[in-house]
Amino acid sequence: MIDLQLTEKTHDEARQGEALVIDAPEQRNGKKLYIESYGCQMNFADSEIVASILKEDGFTTTGDYKEADVVFINTCSIRENAEQRVRNRLSQFGAEKRRNPKLIVGVLGCMAERLKAKFMEEEKLVDVVVGPDAYRDLPQLLSQAEDGSKAINVLLSREETYADISPVRLNGNGITAFISIMRGCDNMCSFCVVPFTRGRERSRDPYSILAEAQDLYERGYKEVTLLGQNVDSYKWKGADAEEGAPIEVNFAQLLEKVALVSPELRIRFSTSHPKDITDEVLYTIAKYDNICNYIHLPVQSGSSRVLELMNRTYTREWYINRIDAVKRIIPGCAISSDIIAGFCTETEEEHQETLSMMDYVGYDFAFTFSYSERPGTMAARKLTDDIPEEVKKRRLSEILVKQQEWSLRRLQQQVGKTVRILVEGFSKKSDQDYCGRNDQNAMVVFPATKNISPGQYVNVYIERCTSATLLGRLAE
Ligand code: 5AD
Ligand code: SF4
Repeated sequence: MIDLQLTEKTHDEARQGEALVIDAPEQRNGKKLYIESYGCQMNFADSEIVASILKEDGFTTTGDYKEADVVFINTCSIRENAEQRVRNRLSQFGAEKRRNPKLIVGVLGCMAERLKAKFMEEEKLVDVVVGPDAYRDLPQLLSQAEDGSKAINVLLSREETYADISPVRLNGNGITAFISIMRGCDNMCSFCVVPFTRGRERSRDPYSILAEAQDLYERGYKEVTLLGQNVDSYKWKGADAEEGAPIEVNFAQLLEKVALVSPELRIRFSTSHPKDITDEVLYTIAKYDNICNYIHLPVQSGSSRVLELMNRTYTREWYINRIDAVKRIIPGCAISSDIIAGFCTETEEEHQETLSMMDYVGYDFAFTFSYSERPGTMAARKLTDDIPEEVKKRRLSEILVKQQEWSLRRLQQQVGKTVRILVEGFSKKSDQDYCGRNDQNAMVVFPATKNISPGQYVNVYIERCTSATLLGRLAE
């Protein structure tokens, strides 16, 4: 799972013709929804499902919480500081509620699931608490809240995949979009709260995934990212759409089907699990030009003993074997990782093993974290969080320094080459430059010497780089 740590703000531009939900003015109820998301990409995708459900109920969205009737915050519990950030934000919404007592404040997502009714005791201003599998119940919960009672639904489901809901694309660029392909996680990594907050793993009907990809493509999107906590264990059993015969679809087969929607539609996916990623998946990536050569394969630790305590169910050797397979089957494939510093009982030598793993792989990118004990997890129950904060911090900074070196080195390998990129728009820093990503997910910036619309593929000659960005010029 890639942790975005971003705040997304929705906006009210109805981006005509983009959302499939009915948006006829006569069906609006005059109410405005403001929704903000924290945490992983899955949460951002879920907010789009929530917006879709409420749009059907007559809501429009707004980017300004001060003019909203309903404020939702889609929360993350993965680390303590993620929860703290949400609480700080809630106190800002509290000030707004004192000004406008009719405002309904709702907490969605992982914190809602983890804390349940306790949330309402702790945060008095919260009116609605809704877990990740209960979003269909939102219209009903909101009318309950409008009548003045507190409303809660945190039931987890074994079936809910929101397969039939066409997400309203919020705050997007109209070029890249997420598609959820599964929900929940059955892995029980000992540090992780996700299996408790998002429930059991279930795979979404591939036909609804393909229909969503096809629809996005027809509306001008050029890149989709297939999302799941553990995409490699995607498995759907059901009836073949044409013949009705029982079929099974695995992740490699799903990838292939989505790749066949159009060679002009790029496919990304996240997150892969080292224990489950198969050669079949790697060969499928290699076979299709439009499946991006980029794999997010979190290692968490380079030490087999620590991996066992983390219940990751693979060893250092197994992980190396998977990396060797990626490099053999998809030469030049970019690889990124999640790494945790200072897990329970981690020794200095074991930390060194993480650093040496980073050198072995040469990650293009890594999300790095200091271990944060989460209540209720196996690690919290069975292990002692015994690495002092300053040691965790120092180990984390050594990991960060090493990653900076590798990120720079990997990008330097692109200098002097011509790469194909999907233009996303003007660069963040200047409207004299365009930006877009290459196949390996590196951000590429180049001067806007020609008029290019977002969504076009262009070739860029790379002249230089920083540790985060490739800089170049349009190639002839
Ligand atoms: N402490 C620190 N990092 C964590 N992650 C998950 N749980 C914790 C925790 N308790 C990290 C893992 C995971 C990523 C999304 O967040 O590296 O892959
Ligand atoms: Fe958490 Fe592990 Fe599942 Fe990822 S695979 S969500 S780290 S339990």
